[in-house]
Amino acid sequence: MASAIEVLGKQAMKTFSDRRFCQKNLEKLLSLLNKITAEDVKLDKNILDYVSRQPAPMCVMDIFENKDITIAIFILKHGVRMPMHDHPGMHGLLKVISGMVELSSYSLKTKSDHVIKAKEEIAAVRHRPDYLHSNSPACTFTPTEKNFHEILCVEGPAAFLDILSPPYDVDEFGKGTRPCTFFKTVKSKLCTDVTDIIEEVQLTVVENLPDFYSSSLEYRGPPLKNHCT
Ligand SMILES: [Fe+2]
Repeated sequence: MASAIEVLGKQAMKTFSDRRFCQKNLEKLLSLLNKITAEDVKLDKNILDYVSRQPAPMCVMDIFENKDITIAIFILKHGVRMPMHDHPGMHGLLKVISGMVELSSYSLKTKSDHVIKAKEEIAAVRHRPDYLHSNSPACTFTPTEKNFHEILCVEGPAAFLDILSPPYDVDEFGKGTRPCTFFKTVKSKLCTDVTDIIEEVQLTVVENLPDFYSSSLEYRGPPLKNHCT
């Protein structure tokens, strides 16, 4: 019988291999993702202890990548903040499987999916943060909704499984691969309306992040095969 992660991988490939995108496939993928546990991907206490002891603020386990999707596990040490970054033109799903994170998401005010240049100032809104642990449902973003986020590990180490489509290194706009760019808030104004939006902000690109880097870890769970070749 196929393992939970293999079933999830197959459904992710099915959902994102067709760019016409079927909501029913996405809903099925979300319901499978909501059931994924640390055990399903063989993420145990030894690995989490190792992450706490090693020097990098974050460790990454690559599970699978093809032309349509990337599946990986990110593990943040306690107190680490993954700086604000974008996912140009991409859809994403994020499921916490261990520890707890505060996920702060931002949406650009202009519906742009281009790669943002250095020194460009862009207007965005900050959504109310989500506090996510292993019992929380997965969060999603699209090319235009909540496409920027920062992730703070409030109870660590915290691990989350990420499904991205298309991968960063796929030439989606015919202009080469799309980088993951980091951002900072340069201006902000609190919103007092009772909505999901808590702040209006201006963001700029951050070129150097010497304190933030990752080291890779070997994935020890069931391997995923490409079902869409
Ligand atoms: Fe991200």
